[in-house]
Amino acid sequence: METQQPKTMEDSKTKQEELANAIMARRSLPTVIGPEAWEGYSFSDLEIRIKESTDLYGAVLWPSAMVLCHFLETNRDKYNLTDKNVIELGAGTGLVTIVSSLLGAKVTSTDLPDVLGNLQYNVMRNTKGRCKYIPLVTELIWGKEVEQRFPRATHCFDYILAADVVYAHSYLEELMDTFDHLCQENTQILWAMRFRLDPENSFVDRFRQRFHLEELYDLPSLSIKLYRAWRKDRRTREQGEAAA
Ligand SMILES: C[S@@+](CC[C@H](N)C(=O)[O-])C[C@H]1O[C@@H](n2cnc3c(N)ncnc32)[C@H](O)[C@@H]1O
Repeated sequence: METQQPKTMEDSKTKQEELANAIMARRSLPTVIGPEAWEGYSFSDLEIRIKESTDLYGAVLWPSAMVLCHFLETNRDKYNLTDKNVIELGAGTGLVTIVSSLLGAKVTSTDLPDVLGNLQYNVMRNTKGRCKYIPLVTELIWGKEVEQRFPRATHCFDYILAADVVYAHSYLEELMDTFDHLCQENTQILWAMRFRLDPENSFVDRFRQRFHLEELYDLPSLSIKLYRAWRKDRRTREQGEAAA
């Protein structure tokens, strides 16, 4: 597994910088301007073309998505997605869904209704004929009818993936409850988090009360951390809540 094990602070900074640069180098722009605007991303030895639009958060590709994709691609031995049930929250333009599907996962890709058209377009364009499982693109509004749409009894996910879903929006509690609902005993959450303002830090603190949290990457130049999380059992949670 690609890890950051530096000897000194200076070493550590250099390693973090190198990793951030390697991740950002996966993006390329078309050399010729054609009728349709797209950006290219290189993962799984393939070029992935992503179409963005400008009017919505979910219509732009955020660097956190590249961080999560880089991790998935370079840690396939430890986090093997082949035949795994995966759900992505706030999938946006779809890069994480596409890369996970290319890595062999059965992916349910979710977001707000307005975002789904462009998401479906990108997902189909980049996975058709290239993947074992066709990804399912569907609506999931955090906190809304989550049990009806994804009953815990029948929907068991190996991984929940999320990139840049925590920022100054009014649905942070609903997002927390959605993680909580979807994350079962054997589920792992891989979550790339872009730090912008204080509410994001307090979300991480509250998240830590419900889930075990391991930091996989720390990339200060991008203000992004990548976390792995898994459920705390009920007793550990109650002890944590009592101590808070
Ligand atoms: C900053 S964008 C990140 C998009 C993508 N994951 C990426 O990193 O490029 C946040 C995403 O969360 C979605 N989102 C925001 N509020 C939501 C809600 N209440 N329910 C579901 N998705 C939501 C947005 O539509 C958007 O796709």
